[in-house]
Formats: sequence, C-alpha cells, structure tokens
Amino acid sequence: GSGPAVRHFLDLKDFSAETLRGILDSGAAIKRARVKGRQATERPLTGKMLAMVFDRPSTRTRVSFDVGMRELGGDTLMLTGKEMQLGRGETVADTARVLSRFVDAIVIRTLDHALMLELAEHAEVPVINALTKVSHPCQIMADIMTFEEHRGPIKGRTIAWSGDANNVLASWVHAAARFDFTLTVAAPDELAMPPALVAWAEREGARVHATKDAFEAVKGADAVVTDCWVSMGDDDEHFRHNLLSPYRVDSALMAHAAKDAIFLHCLPAHRGEEVTAEVIDGPQSVVFDEAENRLHAQKGILAWCLGNEG
Ligand code: CP
Ligand code: NVA
Repeated sequence: GSGPAVRHFLDLKDFSAETLRGILDSGAAIKRARVKGRQATERPLTGKMLAMVFDRPSTRTRVSFDVGMRELGGDTLMLTGKEMQLGRGETVADTARVLSRFVDAIVIRTLDHALMLELAEHAEVPVINALTKVSHPCQIMADIMTFEEHRGPIKGRTIAWSGDANNVLASWVHAAARFDFTLTVAAPDELAMPPALVAWAEREGARVHATKDAFEAVKGADAVVTDCWVSMGDDDEHFRHNLLSPYRVDSALMAHAAKDAIFLHCLPAHRGEEVTAEVIDGPQSVVFDEAENRLHAQKGILAWCLGNEG
C-alpha cells in the first residue's frame, strides 16, 4: 500500500528495544489506572472493533484480549476458522482484505505461522499474533512485565528455561536480544532450539546459551521458566514424556537458582509433568500475576497497534 505502514504485532524480533519498552510502559500505566469492574476513565479505543480469529483453544489469550479491548472502549468479535469461509477454502489474502473493511484490528491464533504472516501481508489493519507453532510474543511481553514487577529491571539478568524449546521459548529468545538479558536454555537434543533461531540469536549478539543440563541452565538464575511438554499440535508425540522428564521443574532444581528466583509458566500447567505442585503452588511461583499481566501487556499492544502516537 501507499499509506503509512500498518502496525502489526507479529514477533518481538520485528521491533526495536525502544518500541517494545514503550509498549510495556504504556501497558503498565494503563494497569496502574485500572480499577477492576469499573469503567476506565481513558477509553482510547472507543469505536474500534477487534476481530479475534481463534483456530485453537485458548483461555487466557482469548479472555484477556476480549476484556482488554472492551476496557479500552472498543468492541470485539470472536471467530473460529471453521465457521468462516476460510475453512471452506477461501484464500487467506481475500479473508484479510475483507476483514480489513469491517474491523480495525485482527488477533489470530493459528498453528500455521506462514498463514498468520500471509494474513498480515494482505490486511490493511494491524494483525496481532496470539500464538503460532513458531512463537507467542504477547505471552513474553506479559512475562517481562511480571519479572520486572517482582525483581526489577530485566536488563543484565538471567532467565533459565528448562523443557521443550517451543514457541514460547522462541519469543523468549527474541526478547533476550531486545531487552538485553541472558537466557539459558536446557532442552534435550531432540527438542532443542531450531538452528535458524540459534543463528538469529548469534547474529543479534544475544546472550542465549544452550545446554542439555537443566541444573547448569538454572544455576544462579533470577527466574526459572518452563512450559507444557505437549504443545498444541504435538498431541501424538508420546515420546516427549520420557525425553522431558529430566527437565521437570521441582524443588531440587529451583534450589539451584538464585534464592529469590521467581517461577514463571505461561499456563495451562500440568502438575507432576513439567512442574511439581510444590513449585507452581509454592512461594516462588508468580504464575497468576503472569496470567493477569496478559491483560495489561496486551492493552499496551492494542493501544500501540491502533494508536497514532510514537
Ligand atoms: N498462555 C496462554 O496463551 O494461554 P491460553 O492458551 O489459555 O490462551
Ligand atoms: N506451548 C504451548 C503454549 C500454550 C499457551 C502450546 O503451543 O500449546
């Protein structure tokens, strides 16, 4: 197009550190001003319509975008691929062009990262990545907000990941480069970071260190992070349980992290698999603050995508 660039939010790697920091700051400011259940005094998205296309289940992402958009004065429309003509073969490009005539922004959850990129390429309104098989950028914005609320600035700190090097981890890698922290990743060879992601981190000069040893990764870390062993789309891969059991986050593993380390998990969690109940329900866990911060971080994202400042 010839107009100003559309403000998509597809991956953290697409942004400068300054832009991401600005989005987080605005989310935090909106959070401070919020009183749950009361109408916000600032409703900057009044009159705006957000379409949410969810091809996969979601609790947090779906509810937080819906509530967030409404609290900012806008409205939402929930769609699933199956009930759209997309499910009967209408092209992604035409779907993007048509939705752009009706709504002001599109949130999409699909495992197909290329489909999400194609939608953004043809949409004349902002497209927001609400999780693909490749990445989950909105989650990591909330995670950084949560880390900083509990432990102060993330710059120069160490975040440890133990488990499947999946979509959530990929967005952590992008964040490590942009927010300038160290990321140590423990995963089995079979479920390690994709080579292209490792190469990207190297090109960016990010401090991302891979190991097979969970204890090594976690040593002295300021936060320990994990995620489910079986992500959406991986349901038949039963071998994952054996491969990933050495990466379970339990009290013995947490004891190797810094004394005041926090535990993060994007949820949904599987107690006894990737994390023990003792850890996720224990004093170091901040997973419900983390879930809540989806709302606040995404308000910053919505305001950035739909605003005309900055
Ligand atoms: N963490 C997360 O994205 O959760 P949902 O799948 O419930 O949206
Ligand atoms: N890695 C998980 C995250 C769910 C929010 C998945 O892709 O299913």
